Amino acid sequence: MKTPKRIQPLMDDGLVDEVISRLMSGKEADVFIVRCGDEIRCAKVYKDAVKRSFKKAAQYQEGRKVRNSRRARAMEKGSKFGRKQQEDTWQNAEVDALYRLASAGVRVPKPYGCFDGVLLMELVTDDAGDVAPRLGDVGMTEDQAEEDHAVMMQYVMRMLCAGIVHGDLSEFNVLVDDYGPVVIDLPQAVDAAANNNAQAMLTRDVENMKNYYGQYAPGLLNTQYAKEMWDLYEEGELHPEYPLTGECTEDDDDADVDAVLEEIKAALAEEEARLERIRVANEE
Ligand SMILES: Nc1ncnc2c1ncn2[C@@H]1O[C@H](COP(=O)(O)OP(=O)(O)OP(=O)(O)O)[C@@H](O)[C@H]1O
Ligand SMILES: [Mg+2]
Repeated sequence: MKTPKRIQPLMDDGLVDEVISRLMSGKEADVFIVRCGDEIRCAKVYKDAVKRSFKKAAQYQEGRKVRNSRRARAMEKGSKFGRKQQEDTWQNAEVDALYRLASAGVRVPKPYGCFDGVLLMELVTDDAGDVAPRLGDVGMTEDQAEEDHAVMMQYVMRMLCAGIVHGDLSEFNVLVDDYGPVVIDLPQAVDAAANNNAQAMLTRDVENMKNYYGQYAPGLLNTQYAKEMWDLYEEGELHPEYPLTGECTEDDDDADVDAVLEEIKAALAEEEARLERIRVANEE
């Protein structure tokens, strides 16, 4: 096909030899199948900030590290330079997350770098070479759903161990190849330790997976992986091979309720005794 304008610089630099076809036109990016030498790869071309819902980005960017202070100030001010920097941070966030997750034992497309707002990565395919379908487009047996859900929970846990929460995990951002689920679409990945919304995002990610696989394996609908993971993470006990159960031990809240009830009872008894003393005193 005709080379899209945004990919031309990569052609000029010899990073891409041919654009084969457009795979998908998403809200935030256009995705192409490209040829690099004798390898077929995937090129994700980010759309401009104006074409994306940029307000939403604020929630995700909280706590994102910007090393250069001039850059941090510019981003705060929202100046033109700032917006350009924010855009770069956003785009680099996905390639950074891909590298970090690949080395943390999470299956993601292998990244080849991000150049001029174009992310080059492995094209996820099935064994026949066809582009892998999204999780939302495949059906499965109950056993398969349970198995894949367990794999996904391990991936979410490993991401958390690497300090990352996906933030937009759903059946549309997971591909399925012959070996199982592959996590994609990470530009909004958040820093688990620095972002105040991290726990809420982790919970939403885990709920999405639970509800999706739960359609095929209803037994999953009672599991509580998000709470289990977050509690362990906060206690510093989470590690990449932790054997998650999806069950949560009764926490102290219940005990606290009992303690409060005991206190109320004691206060009522005390008040009764006080009234009784007054009554007795009045009678004397
Ligand atoms: N590495 C890949 N291999 C195969 N297909 C891919 C790959 N990356 C993306 N895709 C396809 O392109 C689609 C869009 O990619 P992605 O989710 O990363 O971008 P997006 O702009 O955020 O899309 P959306 O707004 O639809 O979520 C995916 O749903 C998937 O079908
Ligand atoms: Mg997506």
